[in-house]
Amino acid sequence: MSKVFVLDHPLIQHKLTYIRNKNTGTKEFRALVDEVSALMAFEITRDLPLEETTIDTPVMEAKTKVLSGKKIGLVPILRAGLGMVDGILRLIPAAKVGHVGLYRDPETLKPVEYYIKLPTDIEERELIVIDPMLATGGSANDAIHSLKKRGATNIKLMCLIAAPEGVEVIQKEHPDVDIYLAALDEKLNEKGYIIPGLGDAGDRLFGTK
Ligand code: PRP
Ligand code: URA
Repeated sequence: MSKVFVLDHPLIQHKLTYIRNKNTGTKEFRALVDEVSALMAFEITRDLPLEETTIDTPVMEAKTKVLSGKKIGLVPILRAGLGMVDGILRLIPAAKVGHVGLYRDPETLKPVEYYIKLPTDIEERELIVIDPMLATGGSANDAIHSLKKRGATNIKLMCLIAAPEGVEVIQKEHPDVDIYLAALDEKLNEKGYIIPGLGDAGDRLFGTK
């Protein structure tokens, strides 16, 4: 069964409160999502493997550590996942970025895929699928199936806020995919919105309605 990590670092929780607040405008919302994404990336990369190297400091030779060349790929789910990309890239600048375009049909709540473009070597990469919201789980579930169909074997899912319903879907369909969250909320409302949530992540990020 996949593990669920709720990243309870005080800075993440503090910023998430402002992200949730309906009085936070687009500019500030975007900046906060970017900052929280960077803080979450710090936690999600905790288990990256290191190897020893030898360098000369100005004083003497020293045995130190560097990342052992693990290849990372970020896969934002369009649109709202885009808001999390730059924050993560600040910490992992060498990561490649693939895109999966999905929207949720407002009537059926089922995801509709309209775009996919991935790095050619996804089977060698640790992929981090990113989307602020894991609601019914339909979008993330489809995106992960799409990646697996194309050869991906090592996938993590990173979201700001999840509903228990969405977590359950991912755990059932993808027991190999660990889930990293800033918050696990109470439930979905009748329109499939996470409550208390933050509203429509794409609209709040891009100023649309
Ligand atoms: C939102 C969100 C997720 C999806 C989550 O996207 O960014 O992708 O809903 O819902 P689910 O877990 O029930 O599938 P939306 O469909 O609103 O598209 P957008 O990002 O283009 O606004
Ligand atoms: N998508 C959003 O943007 N917000 C929700 O609460 C659920 C799905």
